[in-house]
Amino acid sequence: RFPVITVDGPSGSGKGTICSLLARELGWNLLDSGALYRLVALAARHHGVALDDVDALVILAAHLDVQFSTVEDQNEVTIILEGEEVSNSLRTEDCGADASVVASLGPVRDALLERQRAFVTELGLIADGRDMGTVVFPQAELKVYLTASAEERANRRYNQLINKGLGASLQAILDDIQARDARDMNRAVAPLKPAKDAISLDTTELSIEEVLASVLDQARH
Ligand code: CDP
Repeated sequence: RFPVITVDGPSGSGKGTICSLLARELGWNLLDSGALYRLVALAARHHGVALDDVDALVILAAHLDVQFSTVEDQNEVTIILEGEEVSNSLRTEDCGADASVVASLGPVRDALLERQRAFVTELGLIADGRDMGTVVFPQAELKVYLTASAEERANRRYNQLINKGLGASLQAILDDIQARDARDMNRAVAPLKPAKDAISLDTTELSIEEVLASVLDQARH
């Protein structure tokens, strides 16, 4: 038995929320693999490394000095990069766009592979990303692929930003989501797609509770 549940899908499909609820419900660890790509992009910015300087990006990815800490009973994870708390700067749309650029580079992905696999424990792991089921954990016991229409995903992202008190333009978010989808699905390495043995769930019309219940039902089968 390999106690890993992979949850892959495009930006705004609800992976982040579902994964943290799943991890809490099952008492399993959580891997937010997108955060690793975002951290590489942020580290590049801090060190003045260009997003096409593959050799320098690989070094950053291989040596990321990062700590994740969860506060008991809280959903939020605090992320410290090189001694600096970066949880908020990591979530910006700019950082997400930069992350998808560095994530298109095979050597950067390879440099992060072992770090991701090291998150597995006997307790179990919920793995959130784009290639969790296809590349990183092909032997996972349950693979889920979440989708939703681009419009619905843009709406969700917009509401998240507004709830955090951040300004946002719905059209700009939709454009960004479509650009990111195209980059993530069309790249040569680890393109975003469901694993052959994944269960696909279209969440456009589903509430968080409905998606969670459906995944938990599969997990307990
Ligand atoms: O939260 P959101 O879905 O917008 O982004 P994320 O999951 O934090 O991922 C940011 C970017 O990192 C994505 O657009 C992907 O290009 C890349 N990524 C990836 O290539 N592989 C992963 N396993 C996770 C993220």
